[in-house]
Amino acid sequence: MTLDLSPDSGARDAGPPVPVPAVGLAERLRGGVSFRRDQLGFLQWAARTHGDIVRFRLFGIPMIMLNHPDHIYRVLVEQRTKYDKDALLYRLVRPVLRDGLIGNPGGELWQRQRRLMQPSFRPVIVAKFAENMTDETTAMLERWERQYAPGAVVNVHEEFGELALRIVNRSLFSARVGRAARDFAEAFTEANALLGRFFKFPFPPLTVPTPAHRRLRRAIDRMDAFVASFVQRRTADPGDEVDLLTLLMNAVDEDGDGRGMEPEQLHHEVLNLVVGAYETTTNALSWIFYLLAAHPEVERKLHEEADAVLGGRVPRFEDMARTPYARSVVEETLRLYSPAWQFMRRARTEDRIGGFHIPARSNIYLNSYVLHRHPQLWDDPESFDPGRFSPERSAGRPRHAYMPFGGGERICIGQHFALTELHLVLLTLVRRHRFRLPPGQPPVRPQPLITLHPEGGVPLEVHPR
Ligand code: HEM
Repeated sequence: MTLDLSPDSGARDAGPPVPVPAVGLAERLRGGVSFRRDQLGFLQWAARTHGDIVRFRLFGIPMIMLNHPDHIYRVLVEQRTKYDKDALLYRLVRPVLRDGLIGNPGGELWQRQRRLMQPSFRPVIVAKFAENMTDETTAMLERWERQYAPGAVVNVHEEFGELALRIVNRSLFSARVGRAARDFAEAFTEANALLGRFFKFPFPPLTVPTPAHRRLRRAIDRMDAFVASFVQRRTADPGDEVDLLTLLMNAVDEDGDGRGMEPEQLHHEVLNLVVGAYETTTNALSWIFYLLAAHPEVERKLHEEADAVLGGRVPRFEDMARTPYARSVVEETLRLYSPAWQFMRRARTEDRIGGFHIPARSNIYLNSYVLHRHPQLWDDPESFDPGRFSPERSAGRPRHAYMPFGGGERICIGQHFALTELHLVLLTLVRRHRFRLPPGQPPVRPQPLITLHPEGGVPLEVHPR
């Protein structure tokens, strides 16, 4: 389907391709929005003033932002062999993620690894981890009941960080969170902030030992030490645990050379999974409860659904199919505040998108924060309205209008895991508690780091129902 979402889109398929419209310096100065000072504001302004395809420079490197579902479909699906992930953003995060799935530029190694790992992330396998999710949430609630008076203000962002880490550790390594996991979380936060800063200001190559680079190196070493401790222990003594690590260690490439992963590759993949799972789900949970606290009418509907289906008991995997409103609260949160809010591709050869010329080696910038607020795709885009994900209102929406997990063959491998975790944690918490914004609390602003982070955390009053 070709939507005509802007005067520049769709209609240019005949004739020679034309250059992508560019944000000029003079215009930027006039418009007064700078990428460095206000990344989200700049991107929204660029899309508003130039339409669904626009070029701008980042450190002098041209970026082409696509904001039209057809164009995104072309890059991620239809012409995917013309694009890879050897783009600026991934070059930046590669020292952390190395050859693991997230940062891997693409090609044979990525294909082999994805083939090996995909079976471990099917919904039927994820269902086996559902109990980890609800057990850990129940334990957190019991601790809250001991630690906080009714109505106390809790920084739920910190709590959800620990919860997400507990869930991923238990599912990957059958391990309970301890000091080592907190050390991982601290190191990750440091790396995320440093890389987010590098993305805004030109930086010398990582081989130059600046203080920031030395801090990044130390953060990577700490994350490596965390992963190595589990992988080495399990390699020395496989034991009889059945978790994601066992599945990955036993996976063989049946459609390829019949072999499993080399130890170093296994280490990188495990690190990519912890990194991929930890902060994204932490941020998503924080945004879910922030939005619920600010919208008691949504919370009320959610309580009605949860009470009718669960009658007060802890939810199970099967309950997800019977609680569609909870699912739509998750989906709508991921529309407004998708944690993996920006990603990139690099054009391997030249291409033509919607009649525009895409030079070889261009960085293609995909951004769900702007796309998910496209006024021609979403009614009243800034409002929090889970009902827009009902089957009736979703009918006819272009597939790549919504992409919190990306799209095409590189779609998030953990999306079922993430959706299950968000849905079950939500149901477990709203059974017995409600959340309110503390009086006078200023709005929580999204901070665009590598992930979309709630700036300053999310303090909420937690009341027993
Ligand atoms: C709300 C939570 C999550 C969000 C919003 C999210 C989002 C994304 C997005 C947008 C991508 C694609 C990036 C691109 O195409 O360049 C991606 C890839 C990936 N994610 Fe997630 N993710 C989430 C949770 C998880 C979890 C729980 C795991 C692991 C258990 C995970 C592991 C990965 C991996 C390994 C990739 C790379 C896949 C590949 O390229 O083959 N993610 N994620």
